[in-house]
Amino acid sequence: MGIERTFGIIKPDAVAKGRTGDILAAIEQAGFRIAGMKLKRLTKAEAEAFYEVHKQRPFFGGLVTFMTEGPVVALVLEREDAIAKWRELMGATNPANAAEGTIRKRFADNIERNSVHGSDGPETAAQEIPFFFSRSELL
Ligand code: RTP
Ligand code: MG
Repeated sequence: MGIERTFGIIKPDAVAKGRTGDILAAIEQAGFRIAGMKLKRLTKAEAEAFYEVHKQRPFFGGLVTFMTEGPVVALVLEREDAIAKWRELMGATNPANAAEGTIRKRFADNIERNSVHGSDGPETAAQEIPFFFSRSELL
């Protein structure tokens, strides 16, 4: 498994609670290099497009409202096996099921306000990274 890049978001709940620094520290301690980072407030159209795959799900409207309620931190994270390792560090979608020490176990409020996003596979990462970053913003 070679060096890989994945996409992550520190979601509005975690940014508002002042957990950005704790989450970035956990990311760096887990051996990721930050290749891209920006603070951004998503528009409704951007949140709808980003989570388009969930458009038919009952939680879609609430998810879009949540993701646009305040700024997020968008991240491109690099390390060996980055996609799987970032999902592992994030923990399960529902923090009630997340393993000890994971970001969602430590910081998430509930299944929706769950502090972080991560690409779930190589195709998703390849779509999500350019959704947020131009080439020249990745270092
Ligand atoms: P993400 O895409 O944000 O990394 O999260 P995930 O893969 O762990 O979970 P996914 O199934 O892709 O769901 C996307 C986000 O939608 C919200 N959600 N709410 N109310 C609900 O039942 C519910 N289920 C999911 C969460 O914010 C979840 O991370
Ligand atoms: Mg997902």
